Amino acid sequence: MAMISTTLVMAGGGGFPTSPANTNVDDMESLQRGAKVFSEYCLSCHSAKFVRFNRVATDLGMSESDVMDNLNNLGVKFGSTMTAVMTKEYAKEAFGAEPPDLSLVARSRGADWLYTYLTGFYTDETKTTGHNNVIFKDVGMPNVFWKQEGIKKAVYEEHDGHQVLVGTEIVEKGSMPAEEFDTMIRDLVNFLQYIGEPNQSYRKSLGYGVLIFLAIFFGFAYAMKKDYWKDVH
Ligand code: HEC
Repeated sequence: MAMISTTLVMAGGGGFPTSPANTNVDDMESLQRGAKVFSEYCLSCHSAKFVRFNRVATDLGMSESDVMDNLNNLGVKFGSTMTAVMTKEYAKEAFGAEPPDLSLVARSRGADWLYTYLTGFYTDETKTTGHNNVIFKDVGMPNVFWKQEGIKKAVYEEHDGHQVLVGTEIVEKGSMPAEEFDTMIRDLVNFLQYIGEPNQSYRKSLGYGVLIFLAIFFGFAYAMKKDYWKDVH
């Protein structure tokens, strides 16, 4: 498959170009899978303090036992928010940076940025962490998916005498086929989008409800107007 996983075109104004996340917040199965990936790989360090487990269950059509057994690693109450296993102080010690709460990260960064970030880790021997990230230079977060994705190195191109980072390339295959890995990351980004705005699907259906209401209301108003004016004419 495509060995160079990120776009080869540099955006004009600095910054590494993002690749489209192609997520769909109405895809419940994708959201359920994303929730599991999130709790398995992210919740150890990051919290999602605006998100309650019972809310996730309702919105994503999961049973209480499914959520408690598969998402709730710490075994907190069903009505609790998603708490990180690691304390912020410990993480700061270990990684030199605090893992931020991820409740709203899809809003602040955008889905494409998240997708590019989560697939953007590469080996960098000059760093104490041993890796770097195409879109988050000198990132403190460990490369959590290195086993599944494989080992990647940076790809540079010369532009006007400068070496410019244009993408990454797999040098040692991971345990997951590339497509499966890609789907897993898209599911995860999808879930992050959902928690950033849990009402997205609901709001869409509410939108239709409002339109129908307005249509009916307009019908009544029109009928009344005709009724009022008929004596005048
Ligand atoms: C071992 C701890 C750890 C794990 C596990 C982890 N992270 Fe992180 N993450 C961090 C740290 C520390 C930072 C801050 C990096 C920095 O500022 O250099 C970070 C930063 C981030 C950021 C950047 C936030 C921003 O806007 O600046 C995102 C997004 C993120 N992590 C998502 C994830 C996701 C999704 C997962 C699960 C796949 C995950 N992280 C797993 C420790 C972790």
